[in-house]
Amino acid sequence: MNKREFDAWIDSRLVAVEAALQQWVPNSAPAGLGDAMRYGVLDGGKRLRPLLVMAAAEATDGHREAALRASCAVELIHAYSLVHDDMPCMDNDVLRRGKPTVHVKFGEAQAMLAGDAMQALAFEVLTPDDGMPPALQARLCGLLARAAGHAGMAGGQAIDLASVGLPLDESSLRDMHHRKTAALLRASVLMGAACGELDRAGLAGLERYGEAIGLAFQVVDDVLDVTQASETLGKTAGKDVGANKPTYVSVLGLEAAMRHALELRDTAHAALSDSGLANTECLRLLADKVVERDS
Ligand code: IPE
Ligand code: IPE
Ligand code: MG
Ligand code: MG
Ligand code: MG
Repeated sequence: MNKREFDAWIDSRLVAVEAALQQWVPNSAPAGLGDAMRYGVLDGGKRLRPLLVMAAAEATDGHREAALRASCAVELIHAYSLVHDDMPCMDNDVLRRGKPTVHVKFGEAQAMLAGDAMQALAFEVLTPDDGMPPALQARLCGLLARAAGHAGMAGGQAIDLASVGLPLDESSLRDMHHRKTAALLRASVLMGAACGELDRAGLAGLERYGEAIGLAFQVVDDVLDVTQASETLGKTAGKDVGANKPTYVSVLGLEAAMRHALELRDTAHAALSDSGLANTECLRLLADKVVERDS
């Protein structure tokens, strides 16, 4: 697959994801809550997690409607995590996806509620009345819940806040990043794979791939925070140093952090080769995108 074909693949999958999100995120909810939800979810973001779900589902010849629902569910959890991450009680950010953050635009209470409602909506989207086998619904809900909760993203965010100003060693930093970011990226891959058929080697390969790109993603996020401008990022650059957060850059240094991200990309590629799966080209190119991006 060349770059043009890959870009066309991304465009076509994102058209489907955007249309589904437009449909499922409510137009009206009490007292302006729907406006805050739509603002936080629609029109922005790279949509990397939905693309991972789609690519993994296609590598395993997965159920299409389920893959679309899983894509949107993961993005809803991710968008909720960003809304809360930006609040004054957490990272206190005013810019996200090139726009004022949800709490700046709608107030803190509404931002908190919009995040709560996005999380609930993710599980609503995964449990339609018809069109998806109940066992698959349960499997997808389980994977997403475990990645989002205390053992995954929320737990990682708790460690992040408790680590401000602390000299974390590399293994504690890795644990934090695995939970706060890699868990949801790994879950994206596994949810896509759950929509299709997979043997033991295939599953082990995709798990290893998901963990590697998940960690690489946050290492690169730490790097971009110091190397890019706010206009490119669509969020405030230089926040981590300002907030005294331990990151791969503060612990390893900029060059070693970037080298580590490239090693993780290589690990992800090797895991795909070991998986025995035939149709992994999009997953391979998405791993490249994780480390080559500038926002
Ligand atoms: C930012 O995620 C938060 C992290 C987990 C590092 P993304 O960089 O995927 O944010 P969007 O979705 O593109 O805005
Ligand atoms: C956020 O990490 C991870 C989440 C679970 C949202 P960061 O705090 O580094 O993400 P950005 O840099 O604000 O996007
Ligand atoms: Mg944060
Ligand atoms: Mg943040
Ligand atoms: Mg960051």
